[in-house]
Amino acid sequence: QSTLAFIKELPKAELHVHIEGTLEPELKIKLAQRNGVELPQKTIAQIKASYQFNDLASFLAVYYSGMSVLQKEEDFYELAKEYLQRASAQGVRYAEIFFDPQAHTSRGISFETVIKGLLRAIAEAKAEIQADLVMCFLRDFSKESARQTLLAARPFSAQILGVGLDSDEHHNPPLKFMTHFEEAVAQGYHTTMHCDIDQIDSVAHIKQALEVIEVERLDHGTNIIEDLDLVAMVKAKQIGLTVCPLSNGFVCPDMKAPVMKELLHAGVKISVNSDDPAYFNGYIADNYLALAQKYNFTKDELVQIAKNSFTTSWLTAQQKESFL
Ligand code: HPA
Ligand code: ZN
Repeated sequence: QSTLAFIKELPKAELHVHIEGTLEPELKIKLAQRNGVELPQKTIAQIKASYQFNDLASFLAVYYSGMSVLQKEEDFYELAKEYLQRASAQGVRYAEIFFDPQAHTSRGISFETVIKGLLRAIAEAKAEIQADLVMCFLRDFSKESARQTLLAARPFSAQILGVGLDSDEHHNPPLKFMTHFEEAVAQGYHTTMHCDIDQIDSVAHIKQALEVIEVERLDHGTNIIEDLDLVAMVKAKQIGLTVCPLSNGFVCPDMKAPVMKELLHAGVKISVNSDDPAYFNGYIADNYLALAQKYNFTKDELVQIAKNSFTTSWLTAQQKESFL
């Protein structure tokens, strides 16, 4: 059996995927035509050639500009439908999917339009793959905008499993949103947040997220390796780290794979995820495969990572058992 076949068959949960980051060039072109949006690139090859980034900011510029084609409920439906099909084909049994409401409401698209399209796709795919939504605040937007977003989510709170924090981390520490996370917890949401790799203030931000805001998971977060007290704490509290190797590969030469191995063997619950698969050249199995082929992760290690993905998910204990 090939390593890829082994990986695809391994039941996995995906805990770190931005639905807007699953917008493939093909769908981008189709939606641009349907909605009368003029794209700067006309062909799939030209679009792919424009995907050049070497840090978080340069990625985010491409990521946000691509969203201009997402306008109608049907667009969000198709976006999620395609992701769920791809994820299911790669052995994802359960996905906790990020979406960025403010990236759309700031363009005049209603919260309702976005979430209704996503929820319809999730409901339709239910027999193949189970999924939930996690709403992210854009950390480079204002606190007031985050507050409005929490308010706009209220009618749908039963269909949103948790809240996260993403976008440009520089000068936008976790503490900026402390009250929003408090409020989110009070409203029954699970919590996670991005602590992107190798940021100027990575360790300080991780400390705020874990010690002050007390999030349940960290997205990326591999810089905990720089502070052994943080490693011990994450281990003791069984905090999941949702790591994204191919995404890391754009900003760091070794995808943080050696650090992942170290954390895994230290008993930290890391999982492997695709982040923005349409932009980083690969879905979840491609991420597992990169670790196996380039960094000699063994089948046992991959199995442990896949187990961690369910353990650190927000499924109920009973649901977890059905997958493990
Ligand atoms: N980091 C921050 N913001 C993001 C990311 C990420 O990995 N993906 C999409 N928005
Ligand atoms: Zn991310």
